[in-house]
Amino acid sequence: MTVAIRYQTRNGNTEAFANQIAAVANVPAESVATPVSATDLLFFGGGTYFMRPDSAASDFMEALDPNKVKKIALFTTSGGPEMVSDKALTKIAEKKGIPIVGHFHQVMGGKGMKLLGSKGGKLKPEQIELVKKFAQEMLANQ
Ligand SMILES: Cc1cc2nc3c(=O)[nH]c(=O)nc-3n(C[C@H](O)[C@H](O)[C@H](O)COP(=O)(O)O)c2cc1C
Repeated sequence: MTVAIRYQTRNGNTEAFANQIAAVANVPAESVATPVSATDLLFFGGGTYFMRPDSAASDFMEALDPNKVKKIALFTTSGGPEMVSDKALTKIAEKKGIPIVGHFHQVMGGKGMKLLGSKGGKLKPEQIELVKKFAQEMLANQ
């Protein structure tokens, strides 16, 4: 089974989760700037900005080739509890016919909000545990 990890981040939170998934899956986590070649399972993550995903994340999803990418495990972060980026990205994947086999979402509160003087990318121990468990489950279910 081939596995790839791609993420979109502005302030480091989503990247931090991607790096934890990378440690479990033993493949590098790379930004959406790196195109994805044929893969059985793609872990794909992004943040939420003004109630939507970053356009780099939606454009990446739009550009995926369903003949190359078999399944996606989606991970998203946001300040508040609504999973708007998950919903928007899932909608694009469904339209393309790429199944989303798992959803992971974490609420980051004000963490990473530069306006509030907060640096992103520092995960709580329980968040690390949760995302590692998610990665393990996704890999085991293939
Ligand atoms: C400019 C900006 C706008 C944001 N808008 C929202 C929002 O509409 N809803 C929300 O729940 N979180 C919002 N957030 C919080 C981010 O989604 C959250 O910090 C997320 O973890 C960002 O991921 P990143 O650090 O990987 O960029 C916003 C953050 C920024 C910087």
